Amino acid sequence: ATIAAIVPAAGVGSRMQHSVPKQYISLSGKTILQHTLTKLAQLHELVAIHVAVSVDDQYFADLPFIDKRIKRVDGGNERATSVLNGLLSLADNPPKWVLVHDAARPLVTIDDMNALLSYCLTHGEGGILATQVKDTIKRGHTHSEQTIPRDALWQALTPQLFNYRELLQSLQDALAANAVITDEASAMEWANKPVKLVAGRSDNIKITTPEDLDLAEFLLQQQES
Ligand code: CTP
Ligand code: MG
Repeated sequence: ATIAAIVPAAGVGSRMQHSVPKQYISLSGKTILQHTLTKLAQLHELVAIHVAVSVDDQYFADLPFIDKRIKRVDGGNERATSVLNGLLSLADNPPKWVLVHDAARPLVTIDDMNALLSYCLTHGEGGILATQVKDTIKRGHTHSEQTIPRDALWQALTPQLFNYRELLQSLQDALAANAVITDEASAMEWANKPVKLVAGRSDNIKITTPEDLDLAEFLLQQQES
């Protein structure tokens, strides 16, 4: 079965409040995007790695060569439209499966990606890496109103792996219906398609705010040594 990857990397990183979009911040000698693409390039099953970057991105061209399967495509104004553009960029030669992975998650392990690929390809079912909620979860605004039982709560991570045609159709339909789509699984859920939860490492964090940077750099150095 053919598998292609899409990397949404067109965000501005507003919560990071940094001078460059967060995917271009250097950690342990390489930009976050370079770390992420280097991880994906280790999956030899991928036939293409399409990276959705902003149309006025000035930084992608300066990345060192990583892998010949990597191609720049135009992103959109939302993560979902960046992914949709990535899917459309594969339409001439559609893969059976598409693996979507955030540029901002450089800590993903090859073992976790292989666990997701293995489950989905064996069962013919889409799925995502996710981690069970560990903290006690409160609902409320200024005061806690309720504690939510956490036994059925997961945090969605990436990568997320789905049948290419089903994801393209679900995402287009969900966006046309103005559904709130923050990951691929939310489009598949909207279309009543199965989303397997594959337990992954909780340190596969999405680098989002300044306090994530030191932790991510430490973890990247641990992985490299
Ligand atoms: N992303 C994208 N296109 C967008 C917005 C986000 O491709 N229009 C990508 C980001 O580059 C990131 C991933 O989606 O790799 C997850 O999004 P997020 O962590 O929210 O990144 P930003 O949107 O850049 O950050 P912020 O929300 O703080 O502005
Ligand atoms: Mg965002």
